[in-house]
Amino acid sequence: MTVKPLFLFQFCCGNMFKFGFSKGASISRNSLAEILPKGFSTQIERKLEGKVALITGAANGVGKATATKFINNGAKVIIADIQHQLGQDTAKELGPNVAFIACDVTKESDISNAVDFAISKFNQLDIMYNNAGVHCNSSPSIADLDLALFDRVMSINARGVMAGIKHASRVMIPRRTGSILCTASITGIMAGVSQHSYAVSKATVIGIVKTVASELCKYGIRVNSISPFIMPTPFIKEAMNQLYPVYLASEDAKYVNGHNLVVDGGFTSFKSLGFPAPDQV
Ligand SMILES: NC(=O)c1ccc[n+]([C@@H]2O[C@H](COP(=O)([O-])OP(=O)(O)OC[C@H]3O[C@@H](n4cnc5c(N)ncnc54)[C@H](O)[C@@H]3O)[C@@H](O)[C@H]2O)c1
Repeated sequence: MTVKPLFLFQFCCGNMFKFGFSKGASISRNSLAEILPKGFSTQIERKLEGKVALITGAANGVGKATATKFINNGAKVIIADIQHQLGQDTAKELGPNVAFIACDVTKESDISNAVDFAISKFNQLDIMYNNAGVHCNSSPSIADLDLALFDRVMSINARGVMAGIKHASRVMIPRRTGSILCTASITGIMAGVSQHSYAVSKATVIGIVKTVASELCKYGIRVNSISPFIMPTPFIKEAMNQLYPVYLASEDAKYVNGHNLVVDGGFTSFKSLGFPAPDQV
């Protein structure tokens, strides 16, 4: 079984259940089976039994959630993250089929060590998930672009992915099998929703995946990326905190009292839901 359908199934269905159905609505297993593409199963299966996965940036957020899913599906997982204490705590929390290795994806030697650690600990590497990434809090204007910050974001989000693929392929090519995943973002395919540096880093991930997949396919290795929209992980909460500081709690608001601050982009003041009139549907 492959990882991509599993992940996409869980990602899509997870969000569908979270956001697509109103509270109290339920869907039966039979009707779920009807709407799923052929080949998907509604049975609980351990689709990654015997597989070994290395996930960067898995101390937290998307990486940690993915590690949990992988383990529940029978995989053994190496968590590679720059946050040592949190990484160790996460590995402990997730149980005996998980090990942590300190890894800064901007250092090629760290990534190389993480791959070698996966082999020494669990004998093989089947899945490499290049997930570590940082957001970018900078001016939205290209005229004010901070090139030092651009370099830093690129070194983690794009170069780190390239290095991860390089060292995964080093051990996957001789076995002529493997699945490489990378976290991109919708900002890599859609302009105007993030700062340029972050968007460019994620567009680069999508480009890396295409060019590398074209080579590695002849060794039976698949390379794919996943482009999520906004998810409330620590990553996004930190960005939101920077964008929207806690104004009312701070001294900045010392002359504001008894006020109801509605933070809704003006919706309650003047916006309509934008639904078309019935005769226009
Ligand atoms: N949260 C979102 O809305 C969202 C949307 C689209 C894409 N993404 C992408 O998802 C991925 C995971 O983000 P998240 O939301 O889980 O964020 P997160 O901050 O919760 O997790 C990111 C992890 O990466 C680790 N990390 C950061 N720099 C590192 C480095 N140099 N080396 C190794 N590890 C490093 C952090 O310690 C952290 O554990 C990122 O690539 C991010 O760009 C997130």
